[in-house]
Amino acid sequence: MSKKLIISNWKNHPDSLAEAGQILDTVDEFSGSLGEKELSLVFCPPFVFVEEVGKILKTSHLIHHSELGAQDISVDDNMALTGEVSGPILRRLGVRYVIIGHSERRWKLGESDEIVNKKLKAALRNEFVPIVCLGERARDNNFSDFLEEQTLSTFAGLNSDEVARCLIAYEPIWAISTTPDARPDTPESALASISIIKNTLLANGYSLMANRYLYGGSVTSRNARDFLGSEGIGGVLVGGASIKRDEFVKILAIAAELQ
Ligand code: 13P
Repeated sequence: MSKKLIISNWKNHPDSLAEAGQILDTVDEFSGSLGEKELSLVFCPPFVFVEEVGKILKTSHLIHHSELGAQDISVDDNMALTGEVSGPILRRLGVRYVIIGHSERRWKLGESDEIVNKKLKAALRNEFVPIVCLGERARDNNFSDFLEEQTLSTFAGLNSDEVARCLIAYEPIWAISTTPDARPDTPESALASISIIKNTLLANGYSLMANRYLYGGSVTSRNARDFLGSEGIGGVLVGGASIKRDEFVKILAIAAELQ
């Protein structure tokens, strides 16, 4: 089985750089025990820790197993935008991946499809690998229409080559651990949603050969094997469980075992 990607989205955690260092130390220790096996990890810390996390990744075993990611990007590379972090700054810090359109930004902060689309273009312009998040709020009768519409507005104005450079993460909001009454999706139903996204792109003239589809939403050591073992799912985005050191290492052990 090909190596699955594990994206660690720390959101606004941990509270200090010292704690971030402890998480990375634990993962480093585990990765040092893997011998020939290599993990494929992306760490997306809060902006304030990006630079230091990047340095730690380069000076440990993690250099063989991981890349640096950011959780967001400014829509514009040069315009003065208080509070935003631009693509060129992220590039200089060694960032390779950027999360685009995370549901917490879409729903809790009101980020519109138009802004998400601009951020996606900024990520591509700066040659990052965009991790594009898509997912419905509720699995109701309209969820398929919703996903189709969200897919088209998120990728609006891009050509096939640009879409092919994206990782596409299906993250249903009802499955994200911070949503009240969250429950993880199943691989079968996540794959059905991924098919809706794929078919929408295909029907609109995009070719999809290079795309890798990921799943996120309450991934833990209890269900990681089901998602990572599923052929159509190229990896997982892990939120809450990625800052619990022991739990995260259990997920990594499953990924290593499945290789
Ligand atoms: P949880 O793993 O905490 O459900 O978060 C998922 C997520 O939002 C990853 O981007």
